[in-house]
Amino acid sequence: CGIVGYVGHRVALDVVLGGLRRLEYRGYDSAGVALPSDGSLLIERRAGALANLEARLDEVGRDGFTGTSGIGHTRWATHGPPTDRNAHPHRSSDGKVAVVHNGIIENFLELRAELEARGIWAESDTDTETAAHLVALAHAGELAGAEDAAGDLTAAVRAVARRLEGAFTLVVTHADDPDRIVAARRNSPLVLGLGEGETFLASDVAAFIEFTRSAVELGQDQIVTITRDGYTVTDFAGEPVAATPFQVTWDLAAAEKGGHDYFMLKEIEEQPGAIANTLRGHLVDGRIVLDEQRLSDQDLRDVDKVFVVACGTAYHSGLLAKYAIEHWTRLPVEIELASEFRYRDPVLDRSTLVVAISQSGETADTLEALRHAKDQKARVLAICNTNGAQIPRESDAVIYTHAGPEIGVAATKTFTAQIAANYLVGLALAQARGTKYPDEVVREFEQLESIPEAVAEVLESLGEARALGQELAPSKAVLFLGRHVGYPVALEGALKLKELAYMHAEAFAAGELKHGPIALIEDGLPVVVVMPSPKGRAVLHSKLLSNIQEIKARGARTVVIAETGDETVRPFADHLFEIPAVPTLLQPLVATIPLQVIAAEIARARGYDVDKPRNLAKSVTVE
Ligand code: G6P
Repeated sequence: CGIVGYVGHRVALDVVLGGLRRLEYRGYDSAGVALPSDGSLLIERRAGALANLEARLDEVGRDGFTGTSGIGHTRWATHGPPTDRNAHPHRSSDGKVAVVHNGIIENFLELRAELEARGIWAESDTDTETAAHLVALAHAGELAGAEDAAGDLTAAVRAVARRLEGAFTLVVTHADDPDRIVAARRNSPLVLGLGEGETFLASDVAAFIEFTRSAVELGQDQIVTITRDGYTVTDFAGEPVAATPFQVTWDLAAAEKGGHDYFMLKEIEEQPGAIANTLRGHLVDGRIVLDEQRLSDQDLRDVDKVFVVACGTAYHSGLLAKYAIEHWTRLPVEIELASEFRYRDPVLDRSTLVVAISQSGETADTLEALRHAKDQKARVLAICNTNGAQIPRESDAVIYTHAGPEIGVAATKTFTAQIAANYLVGLALAQARGTKYPDEVVREFEQLESIPEAVAEVLESLGEARALGQELAPSKAVLFLGRHVGYPVALEGALKLKELAYMHAEAFAAGELKHGPIALIEDGLPVVVVMPSPKGRAVLHSKLLSNIQEIKARGARTVVIAETGDETVRPFADHLFEIPAVPTLLQPLVATIPLQVIAAEIARARGYDVDKPRNLAKSVTVE
């Protein structure tokens, strides 16, 4: 979910709606706003995209909404279906308190029963509503154990935060106290924006980047009160906490579409820059350096096993980490979905390095996997695209993917940037362990540095991939095949198609074809094949060449991604996409690009919103 709060000198409704527009990628099941006005709260909320809320506001007329403070929410539904009634903000029975919330209040049934016992009935099915009633009680001095919070919104929110279990970031406004907004943060992100005579609160700096680039990231279990003139932060016990402002390094242009119909299409094209920026500054005096390292070099040398944990697209990038790290360092590497790893009993100790990969840095399962690893004394290295997010904060070392803001829900540029970052981890370990000579490390790094150019070349020759989208749009299903590093690419290609085109898409390691999947091949079924270089791993190439012939003989319509000049595949390719020759381990960085474009084009041809696929959200902060 995305949340926004504002206290300042502008019309709050405009600021809040503008912020929600930029946060819509975080959820778009429903949207709502609450603004204090003459001792009461104006609340409007609507199921569906933000446009529905805006239409509703036009219907009621916006003239009444002149206040200069307010809160807003764009929701990804957890408790209760995405209806008007369940849309945030939720209010207390006396209508004085409104709350927006990101996360899940795990003890809400118990809290709701407690409220019902006092005669307070919920209007909605949500967990959030309980927080609104509790804050109202605390503010009225009627919450047991928190009587001293009477009349003090900050103290009331603090008292309620202590009663809640689970993950929650709450933003609260009170009808009688329009000059302040109070928020509590646990797990889901919350950032402050500091302007002149105005202060912002949001899940992501994108919401206020138009007004200020000066920001403060709230820490875990903190309460913040904002007014026009600034902010105060305490922990849940009320002890003051020092917060450090930072400057956001990108601007409004980076958060807008820049002439493209969709953010995703812009983000696909930004990949050369995303990879180059991720690599920049990591080779200093011939040595690989991390962005943050709270471990000693000896700790890195002592690593004897690596686990990679991640979800979704980040997991696919992690699969590639295994190929590179094992090859370069001779360390055993296991890669696992964070949601599985965290509930297992993995064998870890202080010599294990756990690499947690997360674009957002806030994915609940990845965060919990990291904590699970730390409980067993493992060292954790985060790869993350969001400065100061929870996952890098809790890690011993960090590499940031400097891909810039990614708004399209389906990850593209952060995927290729993650691959580059994974390879930096591999090179840093090879350097620490001495499994590669320093000049070899430099050479590998330089090869990586030449990849953005190859990606730019692929991007220039995608006209055909676009046209293919139209042709494949009516297909019922698409299969993807790859071997070695082409296998994660195939998995990612299939995921993009599911996410964007709602099409059944499955990827297989090509060697598994004969163990089942070949039975799926029928006349006209599109099969995308990621071919290895004929020069790199000749044996892999010849195996895949046989696989293409096997499926072609059974009627498949073959879509082949192959190295420029690889004439051997031409006779078996119904559609051929050529990519530049690059070293084997780096091929995924170029081979993925046509698959992203094909998926986006199929989705467009089917008339779907490429940036906001149904049922999905950009960051999954619930489990
Ligand atoms: C969601 C997004 C995916 C993303 C995954 C992991 O499912 O829709 O695009 O790959 O979360 O997100 P993370 O922020 O941890 O990389």
